Amino acid sequence: MKLLVLVVGAGGQLGGAMAEQLQTRHTVVAATRARLDVTDARAVDAFVDEVRPDVIVNCSAYTNVDRAEDEPLTALDVNAMAVRTLARAAARTDATLVHYSTDFVFDGSIDRPLVETDPPNPRGTYGLSKLLGEWFAADAPRHYVLRVESLFGGPRGRSSIDRILENIRAGRPVRAFADRTVSPSYVDDVVAATAELLRIGAPFGLYHCVNSGWTTWDGLARELAQLAGRPEAPIEGVPMASAGLAVERPLRAAMSNRKLTEAGVPMPDWRDALGRYLESAGAADR
Ligand SMILES: NC(=O)c1ccc[n+]([C@@H]2O[C@H](COP(=O)([O-])OP(=O)(O)OC[C@H]3O[C@@H](n4cnc5c(N)ncnc54)[C@H](OP(=O)(O)O)[C@@H]3O)[C@@H](O)[C@H]2O)c1
Repeated sequence: MKLLVLVVGAGGQLGGAMAEQLQTRHTVVAATRARLDVTDARAVDAFVDEVRPDVIVNCSAYTNVDRAEDEPLTALDVNAMAVRTLARAAARTDATLVHYSTDFVFDGSIDRPLVETDPPNPRGTYGLSKLLGEWFAADAPRHYVLRVESLFGGPRGRSSIDRILENIRAGRPVRAFADRTVSPSYVDDVVAATAELLRIGAPFGLYHCVNSGWTTWDGLARELAQLAGRPEAPIEGVPMASAGLAVERPLRAAMSNRKLTEAGVPMPDWRDALGRYLESAGAADR
């Protein structure tokens, strides 16, 4: 069924891909921050009343993990309070709300792929604001909250994976965490999973929407070097503690997407996703 989909935060890494790719099967209204500031509750209500979308896809977020410690109110405003506004607007208009969250809601202490029922325990303001956002999103009767991780592949190519790839191609040494495990999420696969959840009418709720399998950042960098035809690239695996990060990242953040698979939306392996990304015309230009 062709849906009317409102994508907010449409200027971001995920939002840009979402707006572009959902257009192939749905009618999309794409709102960048300049068109709709999600922290302006009145503007959100008016916009939703005017558009009357079947689905609101919230790709807006405050994503600067370290800066959030100095700007906690801004992070909370965008990642939590604005989600409450969107959830209320969705509830009022019978729309489905799709919202994205993060592995940063976990503390990284569980040494196996994380499942949706594992207890969150965010370590910083960003993670806390995203957890609150999850809770607010779940107040919409029709909601999908999709946790993604180490996102890559958006139209602007500015993810950590893009930065590593750039260094590999330039022959610069790469230092990558050898002890932080992740299950990366390719934006094209997140968009496809979002479209498929909507198409099949999967049960509403919380899902881990990551590519299958897991690796370390060091493993990711080495796979990138292979795929980029630079197996000799100077890659050094380092402990995360050596980076002196302002906010602790979850160390063990491999995520299980079994619930999503069982709902009928299997996710490709992370290596396959990286390969497709590198093959895509956009990535080849970077
Ligand atoms: N990137 C990752 O590695 C990662 C990992 C885990 C989870 N996530 C989650 O995945 C989702 C998408 O992330 P992303 O990487 O696409 O983030 P992104 O590239 O930073 O995009 C976020 C977008 O939200 C917009 N925005 C910020 N404040 C806004 C406001 N008040 N009103 C409207 N729009 C606003 C930003 O606008 P401007 O461009 O004007 O700033 C930007 O276009 C987020 O929920 C994020 O928390 C991301």
